[in-house]
Amino acid sequence: MTLHQIPNTLQIDSFWMPFTANWQFKSAPRLFESAQGMHYTTVDGRKVIDGSSGLWCTNAGHGRREIAAAVERQLMNLDFAPSFQMGHPLAFEFANRLAEIAPTGLDRIFFTNSGSESIDTALKIALAYQRAAGQAARTRLIGRERGYHGVGFGGMSVGGMVNNRRAFATHLPGVDHIRHTHDLARNAFSKDLPEHGAELADDVERLVALHGAETIAAVIVEPVPGSAGVLPPPKGYLQRLRQLCDKHGILLIFDEVITGFGRLGTPFAAQYFGVTPDLMTTAKGITNGTVPCGAAFASRKVYDGLMTGPESQIELFHGYTYSAHPVACAAGIATLDIYRDEGLLTRGASLAGYWRDALHQLKDLPNVIDIRNVGLMGAVELAPRKDAAGERGYEVMVDCFTHGLYLRQSGDALAMSPPLIVEHSHIDELVSILGDAIKRVA
Ligand SMILES: Cc1ncc(COP(=O)(O)O)c(C=O)c1O
Repeated sequence: MTLHQIPNTLQIDSFWMPFTANWQFKSAPRLFESAQGMHYTTVDGRKVIDGSSGLWCTNAGHGRREIAAAVERQLMNLDFAPSFQMGHPLAFEFANRLAEIAPTGLDRIFFTNSGSESIDTALKIALAYQRAAGQAARTRLIGRERGYHGVGFGGMSVGGMVNNRRAFATHLPGVDHIRHTHDLARNAFSKDLPEHGAELADDVERLVALHGAETIAAVIVEPVPGSAGVLPPPKGYLQRLRQLCDKHGILLIFDEVITGFGRLGTPFAAQYFGVTPDLMTTAKGITNGTVPCGAAFASRKVYDGLMTGPESQIELFHGYTYSAHPVACAAGIATLDIYRDEGLLTRGASLAGYWRDALHQLKDLPNVIDIRNVGLMGAVELAPRKDAAGERGYEVMVDCFTHGLYLRQSGDALAMSPPLIVEHSHIDELVSILGDAIKRVA
């Protein structure tokens, strides 16, 4: 088989691929056949190093036998159990295990099946909490430009990436956005957190002045926006956001769907930044990407605020058939065991310096206009071609794939975050393939 050739038995028309240029893809498909450790193998038998942990989710690397075994055991023992007015022990065990590593106080866990569901869950909890607290006028939800919070109507509405919004005219009413923090003029090539821009958090004050604090339920941000191309927050920004939310009685939600489970060298970004939100959304790494699962973490204040009784009252009319699915719980517990036994939730801290220095070696290559890093996340941004934003980034992504590196492209930014089992030699390999691709594409 030659490069990009697909098995001739495979019919590729029916699968409507998500977030993909279907037409373009199907004319030259990129297909993975298997994966182990740090690498994928393509259908044409080539090894491709995984620079983005699948979709930021295979934090412990691919092909983990312990997770596969736990899933098989669970399927044979209890394949499904309802979590509406019924339960099964694994759900409680999994929630307890998550609470153990959660940022202080965020130890009430609501299970979902994806990041998008976690976001909509957190937004609904925020609204219900404000209402229960006697603040029923607090119905506004505030997101941030360039934010990505999944694809449900809630997440889309608070999200701030235009392509994810413009085709779908109906958004939630009463949503507004604070400004993003991406500032190439002041912060290009910052190592770790940028110096400039903490004051952008004050944009909350602008919306408070415009709408009235008494109408705002929650502010949601990714601590480090990932899908928009890895945008580390300016020093002090998240602290300031927390202070302003406290000042105005607004709940703060961190979307940690990407940053959760060790990506920054701490279990969650909240711990990395020393800022604790009221609600936190997760998914992806929660099961090492193996079985769909997500969770919204709530503070005691939020949870207790809704547990007002009477005893027979369902406190939150919300949930999914597959909330706390036994197989997801089994996969999740096995994943947490691996994270604990191999120290993966903090391993990124010892690699972050090497990662930073390796990425910044690409600084002088053609068209590189920014390099960003924090923890084990990083991005290289290229200058857009005239009237063809994203084209250069796409070509570099394809060239990388052809030469043995998988990474995520966001416009003209190439975003990376390898599995937390990564070694220095993998980082060298990844950066060298990317550098060569940037030179080739120019
Ligand atoms: C920060 C963030 N929130 C939410 C989501 C949506 O997660 P899912 O695709 O599992 O619905 C993503 C997915 O990339 C994400 O990066």
